[in-house]
Amino acid sequence: MIQRDPKYFQQPERNIPDRFIEGSEHYCGRMNPFAYVPFSAGPRNCIGQKFALQEEKIMLATLLSRYRVESGDYLGNVNIKAALILKPKSSVNIRFIQRI
Ligand code: HEM
Repeated sequence: MIQRDPKYFQQPERNIPDRFIEGSEHYCGRMNPFAYVPFSAGPRNCIGQKFALQEEKIMLATLLSRYRVESGDYLGNVNIKAALILKPKSSVNIRFIQRI
C-alpha cells in the first residue's frame, strides 16, 4: 500500500519503470526516501537488497533479450492477496515469445 500512494506515485496501479528515470516523461521526481521502501528501511531493513537488485537485473536482461513476454490475463481480473508482499491469489498465465 505504501508503494501505491497516489500522493507520491501518479497512476500507482500501473507498472511504469520510467517513473524512476530522471528526465523521462513519467519521472516522479525526488521523493521522500520513505515513500518507496520495498526492502523496508532502518536498522532492520533487507540485508540482501543489493544482491536481489543485481540478480533481478541480470535475470531480466537475460530473459528479455531472448523472449518477448505477454500477459495471458487482463490485470483487472487478477485477484491480489496481501501478505508481506502483494501476490496473485491464483496462477497468472504468461506467454514467452522467442525473439528471432
Ligand atoms: C526482491 C527481493 C527481496 C525483497 C523485496 C526483500 C524484502 C525484505 C524486507 C521488506 C525485509 C524487512 C522485513 C521486516 O521488516 O521484518 C527484509 C529483510 C531481510 N531480508 Fe530481504 N528481500 C529480498 C531479497 C533478499 C535476499 C536475496 C536476501 C539474502 C540473500 C535477503 C535477506 C534478508 C534478511 C536476512 C532480512 C532480515 C534483516 C534483519 O532482520 O536484520 N532478502 N527483506
